[in-house]
Amino acid sequence: RRFNVAVVGATGAVGETMLSILAERNFPVGKLVPLASERSAGGTIDYRGDDYVVQDLASFDPTGIDIALFSAGGGVSKEYAPKFAAAGAVVIDNSSAFRYDDDVPLVVSEVNPDAAKHRPRGIIANPNCSTMQMLVALAPLHRKYGIERINVATYQSVSGAGRSALEELGRQTGALLAFQDADPQRFPVQIAFNLIPHIDDFLDNGFTKEEMKLVWETRKILGDDGIQVNPTAVRVPVFYGHSEAVAIETREKVTPEAARELLAASPGIEVVDEHRAGGYPTPVTHASGRDPVFVGRIREDLSHPRGLNLWIVSDNIRKGAALNAVQVAELVANGG
Ligand code: A2P
Repeated sequence: RRFNVAVVGATGAVGETMLSILAERNFPVGKLVPLASERSAGGTIDYRGDDYVVQDLASFDPTGIDIALFSAGGGVSKEYAPKFAAAGAVVIDNSSAFRYDDDVPLVVSEVNPDAAKHRPRGIIANPNCSTMQMLVALAPLHRKYGIERINVATYQSVSGAGRSALEELGRQTGALLAFQDADPQRFPVQIAFNLIPHIDDFLDNGFTKEEMKLVWETRKILGDDGIQVNPTAVRVPVFYGHSEAVAIETREKVTPEAARELLAASPGIEVVDEHRAGGYPTPVTHASGRDPVFVGRIREDLSHPRGLNLWIVSDNIRKGAALNAVQVAELVANGG
């Protein structure tokens, strides 16, 4: 059977990758409908070598759509996802609009695929990019050794903030190399040649919302409210690929050798962990444009008897967003 697929936000950084991944993985697409705002309606996007006209979401009738992939921001999802679901579509939503609702499953395809089967509102949420890659790597360790606590600092590329953020890093880099002003617009301060310890809004507890997503989503996806997470989220001047320095504390001790072996045999993971120059994953050399979550720098925590350090890198637009959404669509298509 084939599925009529709508991609909401088809002109965006994630939406365009959703389209290319649907094609790459031969998803059984019947009718394809790219949707965006009236700004880009009427333009065309490419799918498998053919041009498709982008339609205006606001005036589109979702009747007949089987699967809708949403990546156009939380506000758009809040307003339109329930309308698509009411028309009979299964919505896979990349925004944070529904992630914390009890009746909306939050699914990482390698970690909790069965959760996608129970979707009373017809909506499945795609996790935040940083949580996604962290849990692909940590879930196998959690199952075998019991993770009690996670300390994580993220190094997040600008593509996570959309096309305008990619343009801002490029523009600022050029401007600064030409001795002109950075002129920050998309980010609160200069991002080129800088780091920004602030992603999404500040909350009352002093953490940012991006940081709390790592806490809330980890607990929901692993189904373990006792797991402690201490996050710092940082935006870095990298175009594609998020990196994370992660320190875990486990109930049972795990050696680096055992962790390497377990992770190398787990789905969606590639271990790159040689003790030599270049023998570790980086966004540019390994992750950008590729599917796996790469794990390296696996070593014991010198300061804790049951502590393990890991360096986790993945393409935030692919596994962190578009790829997982399409993998969830595959679960749905296969009867999940
Ligand atoms: P548009 O091209 O019409 O602006 P990014 O995350 O890369 O910035 O992309 C955001 C995506 O969400 C784009 O495809 C954008 O379409 C789409 N989008 C933003 N606001 C709306 C809206 N109000 N209705 C429909 N699509 C929207």
